[in-house]
Amino acid sequence: MGKALILKSSILDKHSNSNKMVDYFIEKWLNENSENTITIRNLAKNQVPVLDNELLDALCKNDIELTERQKKALNLSNSLILELKEHDLIVIAAPMYNFHIPTQLKNYFDFVIRAGVTFCYTKLGSQGLIKGKKAIILTTRGGIYKDTPSDLLTPYMNLILNFIGITDIEYIFSEGLALGNESVIQSQNNAYESINNMLF
Ligand SMILES: Cc1cc2nc3c(=O)[nH]c(=O)nc-3n(C[C@H](O)[C@H](O)[C@H](O)COP(=O)(O)O)c2cc1C
Repeated sequence: MGKALILKSSILDKHSNSNKMVDYFIEKWLNENSENTITIRNLAKNQVPVLDNELLDALCKNDIELTERQKKALNLSNSLILELKEHDLIVIAAPMYNFHIPTQLKNYFDFVIRAGVTFCYTKLGSQGLIKGKKAIILTTRGGIYKDTPSDLLTPYMNLILNFIGITDIEYIFSEGLALGNESVIQSQNNAYESINNMLF
């Protein structure tokens, strides 16, 4: 039995390849064990605000009187972190946009990566405070970049998740989605097969 948090981040809505993969994953996850549950957070539909100077103060300082906008941001950040802590499996759809993750997913990380809350500084360096989680990253791309220096997304996702303590990370790639129908079908079938072969 497990609780999966599903983070969607595509801006392409019904035409999204990563949403399609995530939905396939959800079906497999729910069929796997009748007690498995999911929480879906669509970061493109319910966007986390851009972190700016005012909101950063709300997330970092304990000794200031908060404006209404700051209170809202702090509540959102706290609830996103609580949600993260309450799930054991974190499934992240990470399409490649301009060689990186979507802005909407970056905004999410800006709200959950907080000193003293999800990571802390020690004499030995920083330490992640989100323990005992597994992450599955479903990443879709128009081109083919896996295992090349142009794939900046994968090392970034490893770094940011490791930073908060999530070190058990598995990737499913669906690439070549802009390279014609045959490539799309092949790519999606490979991704579906990888999902089918996953052991939970
Ligand atoms: C704004 C934008 C930027 C993109 N940038 C890249 C890119 O840098 N490299 C790439 O291989 N594909 C790129 N693509 C193609 C997407 O990776 C591809 O459409 C993929 O299916 C996106 O996932 P999604 O359908 O879930 O949004 C881009 C697509 C969009 C909409």
